Amino acid sequence: MIKLAERIVNVGMIGFGTVGGGTAKLLTDNAEIIRDRADTRIKIKRIYDKKESWAKERAVSMGLSPELFTDSVDNIIAADDIDVVVEVIGGIEPAMTYIKTAIIHGKSVVTANKDLMASFGEELLAAAEAVGVDLFFEASVAGGIPIIKAIKESLAANHFHKVMGIVNGTTNYILSEMAASGADFDVCLAQAQALGYAEANPTNDIDGLDAARKMAILASLAFNSRITADMVYVEGIKNITKWDIAYANELGYTIKLLGIAKDYEDSIEVRVHPVMISSSHPLATVNDAFNAVFVEADALGKAMFLGRGAGEMPTASAIVGDIISAGKHIVHNLGGQTSCSYFKNKRIRDIKEVECKYYLRLMVADRTMVLAHIADAIGRRDVSLDTVIQKRSVGDLAELVLITHEVKEDSMLQAIKDLNNLAVVDDVVSVIRVDDSDN
Ligand SMILES: NC(=O)c1ccc[n+]([C@@H]2O[C@H](COP(=O)([O-])OP(=O)(O)OC[C@H]3O[C@@H](n4cnc5c(N)ncnc54)[C@H](OP(=O)(O)O)[C@@H]3O)[C@@H](O)[C@H]2O)c1
Repeated sequence: MIKLAERIVNVGMIGFGTVGGGTAKLLTDNAEIIRDRADTRIKIKRIYDKKESWAKERAVSMGLSPELFTDSVDNIIAADDIDVVVEVIGGIEPAMTYIKTAIIHGKSVVTANKDLMASFGEELLAAAEAVGVDLFFEASVAGGIPIIKAIKESLAANHFHKVMGIVNGTTNYILSEMAASGADFDVCLAQAQALGYAEANPTNDIDGLDAARKMAILASLAFNSRITADMVYVEGIKNITKWDIAYANELGYTIKLLGIAKDYEDSIEVRVHPVMISSSHPLATVNDAFNAVFVEADALGKAMFLGRGAGEMPTASAIVGDIISAGKHIVHNLGGQTSCSYFKNKRIRDIKEVECKYYLRLMVADRTMVLAHIADAIGRRDVSLDTVIQKRSVGDLAELVLITHEVKEDSMLQAIKDLNNLAVVDDVVSVIRVDDSDN
């Protein structure tokens, strides 16, 4: 027989959309196991959503009372009878003001808001620490995958060398579909939209912005330095063609939109862009809308966390886990454990300092000695060739696929400029970074 704490933990929820609804459903459906594990009763006390009548209907269909709804957010963020505020409206404002107000009023906060945490995480964590309450944000990165607690707690004994992830399900779905069906980007994007994986305006996903916010959060936690979203170098997947995917496959590679963060003695590298990784790398096998985060740390070695990075119930799983942690802290007077761990202040490397191999696809004049001209031009910039394959002929042009040896991005950019000025080169069609580092 489990002896429950007397105290009931009252939750106030701001936002009752996909994640808010899923959170309420999970708290209701799994109430018994949650109660026993939390050692206390967790109750949704109040809900605020600007689409009140729609949200009420949704709540009633889940067996919740419409009386839970309030028409003023102050009845949650400033109310004496709320212990934990769950912010699931998204965006910067008014979410930031709501969270700050809740913290000032002594409430612990659980949020899924990556936009906010990637830009103002340090400020909000410091505010929570000052008041002695918790601010948890597991759902802000990779949905249901518990990567934040893993980095902050379970792996806290390690120095992290590298964090590499597929942290956007929409782009992973599109690239996986392109690889599986041989279809073009636009076709697979439309398919992702039809399935609800991509929004009507897919910019945040396909331009890599969503992934950059998540990598800013992960890199900050792993390397204990403040890294905001605007410090992350970003390229999206719009320019990846079915030809690049097919040629990558032929060469033993898979193209993924990766977030890569590396720790150096004096600096940190954080970037999001398409990468050709060896098809035998664990991240290459992560398909559809799945997310995965691959970490390399001194004591642990290499490990990969895989799962659903979005969706109603996987995200609710992370939110409710955080509510349980906050609730336990409240019951046992342990609140305010969320310290802001950005105690280092390392320089963020410029993309020009990155060193890797490159895949280039060029349209060139279909005649002899072309390769000699190309090798000579790029050689002057310290770029040398590892692999060369001649592919299709298109009119009087030939398609060349090249993989370079490792070189600094700065040299590669200059070499590409020189190639574009070469009479035998019609166009440098694609440039994709190649990461062989884990092979
Ligand atoms: N969906 C996922 O799979 C997922 C996964 C991980 C993290 N997240 C994060 O979770 C958060 C919520 O996402 P979601 O997918 O649940 O969004 P959603 O389905 O759009 O739900 C948000 C709800 O909050 C309402 N709302 C927006 N602004 C409000 C305000 N100022 N005051 C009161 N209500 C407001 C929205 O109404 P309107 O529709 O009228 O704006 C909507 O009903 C975001 O930060 C998101 O990035 C989502």
